[in-house]
Amino acid sequence: MICVKKHKINNQKIMSKTILITGGAGFIGSHVVRLFVKKYSDYKIVNLDKLTYAGNLENLMDIQTNPNYIFEKGDICDSEFIHGLFARHNFDGVIHLAAESHVDRSISNPMEFIHTNIVGTVTLLNAARRSWEGRYDGKMFYHISTDEVYGSLGSTGLFTETTSYDPKSPYSASKASSDHLVRAYNHTFGLPVVITNCSNNYGPNQFPEKLLPLAINNIKHKKPVPVYGKGENVRDWLYVEDHARAIDLVFHKGKNGETYNIGGNNEWKNIDLINLLCNIMDKKMGRQEGECASLITFVKDRAGHDMRYAIDATKIRTELGWKHEVTFAQGLEKTVDWYLANTQWLENVLSGDYAKYYEQQYKLR
Ligand code: NAD
Ligand code: TYD
Repeated sequence: MICVKKHKINNQKIMSKTILITGGAGFIGSHVVRLFVKKYSDYKIVNLDKLTYAGNLENLMDIQTNPNYIFEKGDICDSEFIHGLFARHNFDGVIHLAAESHVDRSISNPMEFIHTNIVGTVTLLNAARRSWEGRYDGKMFYHISTDEVYGSLGSTGLFTETTSYDPKSPYSASKASSDHLVRAYNHTFGLPVVITNCSNNYGPNQFPEKLLPLAINNIKHKKPVPVYGKGENVRDWLYVEDHARAIDLVFHKGKNGETYNIGGNNEWKNIDLINLLCNIMDKKMGRQEGECASLITFVKDRAGHDMRYAIDATKIRTELGWKHEVTFAQGLEKTVDWYLANTQWLENVLSGDYAKYYEQQYKLR
């Protein structure tokens, strides 16, 4: 049963729910915030973000003045601030996306990942527990996780919700730890929780340290496109808005204590994906066929590089009726168009510490 509470914003509108979305200025979080702010005008959406290098309020320019949207700058690891935030807003639900999210950074600096992804998640769990004080009716703590917690597949098989955890990078180990802690709070304290584990997302607003936006940006500037190892590693790609729609569905219909896997049923070897991207960009940039592909450069492999991820999304499809709506051809085209059109967004994010990161990450490879 949903507990209906009354909140007033500007003395105008009666709000039916107050939702905390953490990491809402990041890639996936910004799409989730936008979807909720636009779709649920009777919800108050509070976006909590520390604005690390990956957080960018430009991602939310179009909704920043909406009356049902509030931005709070803060750190999920700051216990005093988080408890105060819960006391001020009296949240009905939490959708927790804030995290350090890039595997390569977790290899060069694991401690940030342990702190943010593990300590930050427990800080939120404690605040939810204290704020809700055992009155859990209508409350939900929704933890967003990754398929990488399951480890690496060989050439066959799929990750299901019952696949044993076997994380292999500091990033995936920190996400696995946070998943376990969320389940432990459900089991021990009865906190209502739901977890989803999703495959690789792509789409607008992704920070250009991840494969697709990095490759698009390098191709655009005729710079080498770094492909790790032989490019044979496989990822299952999902358009970010399809993930946001799944999150909406799970938040409202997901069952307490359950886990749902989300994936695109869309596996690509990295090298095949980059070749496809190069073909698209030859056409978009008016270049000769093969010109973009000539930029592909095989570089030293990532340490401990997981070979293959692939998701079995049967449970969310059959139990909650989710399916992806954007085909890969549509999604990739939309993504390339977005990066080519939003040059200012790219220039702004590239102007910070990015150049330093890029040099450190790729100089030795
Ligand atoms: P992202 O790196 O783009 O965004 C992370 C956001 O969290 C940023 O806005 C950052 O400022 C914020 N943040 C980081 N540390 C914080 C802190 N201590 N306090 C408050 N805010 C903080 O990440 P993303 O790709 O949008 O991923 C979002 C979530 O989804 C993560 O939990 C990630 O593990 C998960 N996920 C990502 C993918 C993917 O392909 N990107 C796939 C599956 C799951
Ligand atoms: P990435 O986007 O970092 O996501 P994840 O590691 O979470 O799957 O990488 C996707 C794949 O692309 C992964 O197999 C590593 C590879 N990759 C490259 O080949 N070159 C690059 O420059 C990057 C960033 C990734």
